[in-house]
Amino acid sequence: MSTLVIKDLHVEIEGKEILKGVNLSLNTNEVHAIMGPNGTGKSTLASAIMGHPKYEVTSGSITLDGEDVLAMEVDERAKAGLFLAMQYPSEISGVTNADFMRSAINAKRGEGNEISLMKFIRELDEKMDYLEMPEEMGQRYLNEGFSGGEKKRNEILQLMMLKPKFGILDEIDSGLDIDALKVVSKGINAMRGEGFGCLMITHYQRLLNYITPDHVHVMMQGRVVKSGGEELAQKLEAEGYDWVKQELGIEDEEETTGQEA
Ligand SMILES: Nc1ncnc2c1ncn2[C@@H]1O[C@H](COP(=O)(O)OP(=O)(O)OP(=O)(O)O)[C@@H](O)[C@H]1O
Ligand SMILES: [Mg+2]
Repeated sequence: MSTLVIKDLHVEIEGKEILKGVNLSLNTNEVHAIMGPNGTGKSTLASAIMGHPKYEVTSGSITLDGEDVLAMEVDERAKAGLFLAMQYPSEISGVTNADFMRSAINAKRGEGNEISLMKFIRELDEKMDYLEMPEEMGQRYLNEGFSGGEKKRNEILQLMMLKPKFGILDEIDSGLDIDALKVVSKGINAMRGEGFGCLMITHYQRLLNYITPDHVHVMMQGRVVKSGGEELAQKLEAEGYDWVKQELGIEDEEETTGQEA
């Protein structure tokens, strides 16, 4: 079993504090969902875990099986078993999807231990088949001209090929049609097990109908303010976030303009 522990994490972007003490602990064999209003720091958390240079960790810690993740470069984090499916995957022209994945796999496996081309192709074919992706998508440039839904499906293909210990999936369900949502969920569910844990950021209970989470967390104002089981997501879907704010005495973070008394 592997464990990813985030303790009292504070993160700034361009001098503005976005994460204000996030605590979260994930084990492999668990699926965690994070929900929360727009702009509360969910993607910031994902980027901070992966080591995006723009996000400055000012205090707190992230450890993977006791190892200091914050001391690692981005590629070292990937090598250690962290994977991020971004909310807005970038397009990389000139690098084919298949080459990108093979390089990523080989970077992780290390020199002298590269995956054989045959084995790679066999596995890629198998996974693309599983995700109902047309074969030509392997030969297209990474994400270039991919539709929104194709990009998301491709992120799951990468996840299945790279087999990280922890997958952080930022709004993997956004922009997916119903059939694609089912396929993407099927891929994530296939990954579930001893060697894999998942943190899914989502706005909608709908995704959680297909992927039953073990834990659901609510993020507000840069903190995880509430955690529960699957039923918490259902309640949020039905009732929104106001009750959480009331329950916890959280004020809306509007600038005081003096206009309202
Ligand atoms: N480069 C930046 N400069 C200033 N503020 C930023 C920057 N990047 C992000 N922020 C702010 O950080 C806050 C958190 O953003 P983040 O993307 O983490 O939110 P989120 O919870 O993922 O929202 P959503 O549900 O809309 O995806 C937002 O208020 C955003 O405007
Ligand atoms: Mg976001």
